[in-house]
Amino acid sequence: MNTNNAQPNNIPQHVAIIMDGNGRWAKQRGWKRVMGHQNGIAAVRAATETAAQMGVKFLTLYAFSTENWQRSQSEVDALMSLLVDAIEKEVPELQKNKVRLLAIGNMQALPPKVAQKFERAIAQTAGNTGLTLIIALSYSGRWEIVDAAKRLCTKVLSKQLQPNDITEEEFARVLQTSAIPDPDLFIRTGGDQRISNFLLWQLAYTELHFADVLWPDFRREHFVAAIADYQQRERRFGKVNE
Ligand code: FPP
Repeated sequence: MNTNNAQPNNIPQHVAIIMDGNGRWAKQRGWKRVMGHQNGIAAVRAATETAAQMGVKFLTLYAFSTENWQRSQSEVDALMSLLVDAIEKEVPELQKNKVRLLAIGNMQALPPKVAQKFERAIAQTAGNTGLTLIIALSYSGRWEIVDAAKRLCTKVLSKQLQPNDITEEEFARVLQTSAIPDPDLFIRTGGDQRISNFLLWQLAYTELHFADVLWPDFRREHFVAAIADYQQRERRFGKVNE
């Protein structure tokens, strides 16, 4: 596959990434799993910078799933403090590069300190007009769809909405991503080829790219290769191309 030849005129508007393989990367070195997460931050930076430079408008990173709460308490705690540190350290860089930060997921499930840091960084970067960086935190696609169903039920019960008025558009309006276009390109590192409860509704017509690299090793060339792969695809959205 060509790794350097992404065309400037067909850049995906929204790229969504499952950053997998941190634990294995650390184990390969005889280190604790958390070292893999720590070294994943450089890859987060590389992906964000490359996305911004290439003209991607939205980048979503799956940082913590609802299932990740079941990991050992020490790994969960380490991931939470890593997130707090990363946000604190990176805000000036986000500001400099005009990156707007957003979060999707069940923020109420997060330790208050983590939720507050994110809320603050989101407010600080709200006026930025460059790349929108969306961090999925305590997020899962099924949780989001159930949450959306509850919101719709509340609207029906309060007579703001009739059951027959529930269309795909109406449903999408109560998802976490209501203000974000669906991803054009999905990237998963780490070697597994599955969606793992990420953006289940939004990935309906997304092109899938599986990068054979562990997340801490993911760099600009891997991102460019994924874009070049995307540019080879013919997107039909269920229609025929004549
Ligand atoms: C999956 O690897 C990775 C995670 C559960 C966490 C990813 C989070 C970061 C890299 C920090 C992100 C920070 C910001 C600010 C966005 P794994 O542990 O499942 O790896 P394995 O499959 O090798 O076990």
